[in-house]
Amino acid sequence: MASTAYWDVNAVKSIVLIGMMGAGKSSVGRCLQRRTGLVRLDTDEIVAAEFGMPIAQIFGKHGEEKFRDAETEVLRKLAPDRPAIVVTGGGIVLRRENVDLLKQLGTVVWLIADEATLFERAARRDHRPLLQTENPRDVFSKLFRERESVYAAAADLRLETSTKSHDEVAEAILSKLEEFTGVRE
Ligand code: S3P
Repeated sequence: MASTAYWDVNAVKSIVLIGMMGAGKSSVGRCLQRRTGLVRLDTDEIVAAEFGMPIAQIFGKHGEEKFRDAETEVLRKLAPDRPAIVVTGGGIVLRRENVDLLKQLGTVVWLIADEATLFERAARRDHRPLLQTENPRDVFSKLFRERESVYAAAADLRLETSTKSHDEVAEAILSKLEEFTGVRE
């Protein structure tokens, strides 16, 4: 469905999506982009483009720490001249500086689902380096437990996604954000 924005683009804030792998950040980001007409900036995509290789290869060749440094560097430089949909990697909240930068960018929205649902979604694709282990379910569980409170502290808004399609999540985000609830079609 095409959507037309009638809100004042200068008056709205960016929407920043955070959450675990499998939360649907990338897909919901695309839906939000379509619905709002705002530009979409994906930190994973930007880091991958800067290295000229996929994230899994960055982890393999340079290690996680280098990836995390690049992630922070991208955020430091990310100052869109217009509000944007900002999609992040699941681990971006691990650095305090990153959280501060995300909060400066706009409204931070945490996409939530129960652990089993998140893992099932995350494991559907094999491009996630942190899950390329012998016991991905245990690794995921550990990350989930370690990160929950960090996401909670970083989030301005939280949204349950377990039973919703990506488009329904996008719609729910927009209706929670009053500034976006002007006339849309
Ligand atoms: C990571 C999540 C990934 C990607 C990298 C590390 C994480 O992004 O940034 O593999 O630490 O949770 P998605 O959340 O989009 O899978």
